[in-house]
Amino acid sequence: MGEPALTPPLFAIFSDLIEKACGVHYDAGDRPILESKLSTHATELGFDSLLDYYYRLRYDDPGAVELHKLVEAILVHETYFFREYRQLVQLCDHYLTDLVRTRGRARVWSAACSTGEEPFTLAMLLEERGLLDHVEIVASDVSSDTIVRAKAGLHGKRALRDGHPPEVASRYLDAGAAGYAVVPRIRDAVKFATINLLDDASVRKLGRFDAILCRNVLIYFHDAQILKVLERLARSLEPGGLIAVGVSESLLRFGTSLVCEERGNAFFYRSGA
Ligand SMILES: C[S@@+](CC[C@H](N)C(=O)[O-])C[C@H]1O[C@@H](n2cnc3c(N)ncnc32)[C@H](O)[C@@H]1O
Repeated sequence: MGEPALTPPLFAIFSDLIEKACGVHYDAGDRPILESKLSTHATELGFDSLLDYYYRLRYDDPGAVELHKLVEAILVHETYFFREYRQLVQLCDHYLTDLVRTRGRARVWSAACSTGEEPFTLAMLLEERGLLDHVEIVASDVSSDTIVRAKAGLHGKRALRDGHPPEVASRYLDAGAAGYAVVPRIRDAVKFATINLLDDASVRKLGRFDAILCRNVLIYFHDAQILKVLERLARSLEPGGLIAVGVSESLLRFGTSLVCEERGNAFFYRSGA
């Protein structure tokens, strides 16, 4: 017997369920991608019909345990150390340095941190500048699996790629046969949590930040959802605070209160409030 098929009506109900759970949006053209992920996952769970699996998720899933597993199975966690590095350098040199000098401290949130390479890179850059003890770094992801891996600070070989600054990397990453271990000083500088960007109450509990990294996650969301997340993030910014998105994720088409601003040679979105 082949893998269970995702017919157009099943695609409609599953994509709706997934979008409501974590924001990830599938267009009709993405049906084969979702079918492949869903049918592999449902088959592993012993379902030979995706409709039966859907019923299980909707009507027999106390605590949304199975839905959580499905979300874990479909998310894309691609990340690596020093990704879009220049933007983080500019954030340190054209914002955080001044803030620490004038105010003595700053708070940064890496809001979709995957396995932690992004906040660890920021911690390395801050340590290089003598700022690490003055900047609180909070990092979160909707995926509790990635947060467990991030807390361990152990990363595979693909976590460090061409184009990284070798002298910085070698100071803070211990290379071994299986990959890299983040040195304790950097690992312990990041506070990790499992947080869904769709969950207003959990986001509010984190308090306000001077800068929020929300990179390479909004590309998976539909425009209406992006706007809601941006409003939520804007509310989590201190007045004048900055949001950094991925280089391929311009927010200019959205009419938000955020002001696009170039600092150094990188783009940020500043809270107008
Ligand atoms: C491609 S990774 C990007 C990681 C990192 N920011 C970077 O740029 O390398 C996208 C991450 O967004 C997370 N994500 C997806 N939907 C989310 C949501 N609703 N709330 C929080 N994180 C989410 C995924 O679990 C994944 O780890």
